Amino acid sequence: MVRVIIPDRTVKITNSEKAGEYLKGIGVIYERWGTRVIDPENSGSDQILESYKEEIEQLKKEGGYTTADVIDINEKTPGLEAMLEKFRAEHTHNEDEVRFTISGRGIFHIHPEGGDVVAIEVEGGDLIRVPRGTKHWFDLCEDRHIRAIRLFQDISGWTPYYTNSGKDRNYEPICLGPSYIKPGNVRK
Ligand SMILES: [Fe+2]
Repeated sequence: MVRVIIPDRTVKITNSEKAGEYLKGIGVIYERWGTRVIDPENSGSDQILESYKEEIEQLKKEGGYTTADVIDINEKTPGLEAMLEKFRAEHTHNEDEVRFTISGRGIFHIHPEGGDVVAIEVEGGDLIRVPRGTKHWFDLCEDRHIRAIRLFQDISGWTPYYTNSGKDRNYEPICLGPSYIKPGNVRK
């Protein structure tokens, strides 16, 4: 379930439908596809892509995306901290940033031109499309784990262009949803 927060106005939207409407107003597309993969942690990438084949094909048609893959980011990812440092700095791309979360969580910050910064917390089942040219940054939640399908118009276009505005430093990546609990682990 998506959570939208406008930190400068202390507004919080936890209803998916309302969150989607708000995001549409700033050009970001949100859809709830729901969770379908039985074992999202251990299923192979091909299996995951196959599970959402229809949605992916539809999205490719709508947005001109040509490729889809599955990305895993977690504590075991080599160079995790360096990777996150790049994600956390405000940037744009020459193509849409399309992410469908399979499991785990993450938080996007969107900085619309002349508008309030919006934090979007996503979890398994949430699709987000950030249009090309939109200033944004991304972080993991405290459980530092996300698995997501990515779609690209042209994989070479997904270069980050950093704004160096420093705006990203004014917002704490606070996630509100329940922490991901690994099977067998007990929530403290
Ligand atoms: Fe990005």
